[in-house]
Parts: sequence; structure tokens; C-alpha cells
Amino acid sequence: MELLDGKKVSQEIIEELRLEILQRISEHKKIPHLAAVLVGHDGGSETYVASKVKHCEKIGFKSTLIRFEDSVSEEILLKEVQRLNEDDDVDGILVQLPIPKHIDVEKITEAISPVKDVDGFHPVNIGRMVKGLPAHVAATPYGIWLMLQRYKINTAGMHCVVIGRSDIVGKPISLLMAQNTQPGNATVTICHSRTKDLKAMTLQADILIAALGKAEFVKADMVKDGAIVIDVGITRLPDATKKSGYKIVGDVAFNEVAPKCCYITPVPGGVGLMTIASLMMNTMNACKMRTGN
Ligand code: GUN
Repeated sequence: MELLDGKKVSQEIIEELRLEILQRISEHKKIPHLAAVLVGHDGGSETYVASKVKHCEKIGFKSTLIRFEDSVSEEILLKEVQRLNEDDDVDGILVQLPIPKHIDVEKITEAISPVKDVDGFHPVNIGRMVKGLPAHVAATPYGIWLMLQRYKINTAGMHCVVIGRSDIVGKPISLLMAQNTQPGNATVTICHSRTKDLKAMTLQADILIAALGKAEFVKADMVKDGAIVIDVGITRLPDATKKSGYKIVGDVAFNEVAPKCCYITPVPGGVGLMTIASLMMNTMNACKMRTGN
């Protein structure tokens, strides 16, 4: 069993981007600028956005954090997105989710200019990705794809079983794994809450991607010997032995599943860190697309 080490790979990508920025500075090229919009004070969102801003600083990107209270109106948020669309210095825009229920998340998503949509949530980017055209791909599926690429795992002809059909992970990673690229060229099965015999499906998986959001759901008896297991879950469970009062677990029961695997991603230290690295790559790409170099 070998760990797919998200910490190591994401650090490599961050370092490559940092060196690319030094090169861009010496060539007087534009420095990428990411604008993050945070609504309210959700603990998880605060942590994620702070980490995104910190990584921008580490690489040498410009970043701007724009905060609103929970009570902000849809109209004001739309106006802010429009202002960021029109700000020529801003290359990437993200609105951290979730946002309060009184705001239509689809309206906000579709208001972001597709070229600046570094989250890859805009229907134009999703459509372009489906067609295999250049697009911003959502950070989590792109991070999984990059991880498989960096470990040089030849996925052609493998059976990839994805548990979960979310717009953010399940659907896009299924398409990426099926497309004619390396990684890719896998035969993909998408499983979800209505799948009849889930275990019969997961036992056929050469690559099993767990993205259902249920702590330690995938047990050893659901995994084929020698499988590659990618764990997308992040759940905080109470743990009195930890200083923070909680521990972070994935959708896979790591201790019992890991011995059966050829490769497995740990949680934390797996897919989560890759997500930030791919957001940073999308931001660099947005800048290059906008400036033509
Ligand atoms: N909330 C959880 N994941 C994400 C993400 O990838 N992007 C944004 N904007 N919000 C999120």
C-alpha cells in the first residue's frame, strides 16, 4: 500500500507556481489576482478562505478578501460580482459556499464571468469541460486528476466507481475519468443513494472515489484487493483527546481499508490539499487566458 500524498504533491505544485511568478516578475508580466467573497462567519468557510488567501501570499499572487454579513441582499452581492468582473486587475473570482438561503446560488454562480470563474462552477465552464474544451475545472475533481497524473497512474481501461453525484465532485470527476486523456480513459460507474447493490458495484472498482459525505462509510468488505481508493470526504467528529475537540475523518474507514489498497489518499493530507493547489493553478491559468501570456 502506498499513500497518495496530497501534502507532498500540493507543495510541489505551489513551489512550481511560486517559481513561475518569479519568472513572470522578471518578464514584467501580469501577476495573478484572486478575489474571494465570504458571506457570514461559518467556521469551515472562514478556515477555507483563510487558507486560500495564505496560499496566494505564499506563491506571490495578489489576493483580495471581500466580506459581507449574512444579511447581505442578493442585489448587493450581484453588484459586487459585477464590479469584480469589470475590475481589469482581478483574474479570478470565487464566492465561498454555502451562502445564506435568501440568496439564489445559481444566480450568483452565473453572474461570475466564465473566464474569471476559477471555481469552475459556471455552466459555461461545466459545458466546456464536458466537451473537452479548455475550461476551469472545479478544484476538487481537478485536484484528484492532478494527483493521479503526478503519481503516473495509468488509468486507461480501469473500472472507476464514483460514489456520489454532486455537481461539485461526483459528476465532474466521473466525466474527467472517462475522457480521452491520461489520467482518464476509465470505464466509469456513478453510484448514489438509489443504487441497488452498492457493495456489488464498489467490489468491481479498480479505482474507487468516495464523495458522498458520510464519515467512514466505505468499509474493507466493500473494496477489492489492490484497488486505488480516493477519499473526498471531510467530516469533523467529536474527539475529546484532541486539543481542538474534534478529529477529521473521510468517507473511507482508513485503518481497515488501507491494507487492501494499492494506493489510498489519507484524510487529512490527501484530496483537501490538492483542492487548494488546483484553485491556484486555475487562477494562474485565468491570468494567462486574460492577458494572452
Ligand atoms: N465550499 C466548499 N467547497 C467549495 C469550493 O470549492 N469553492 C467554493 N467557492 N466554495 C466551496
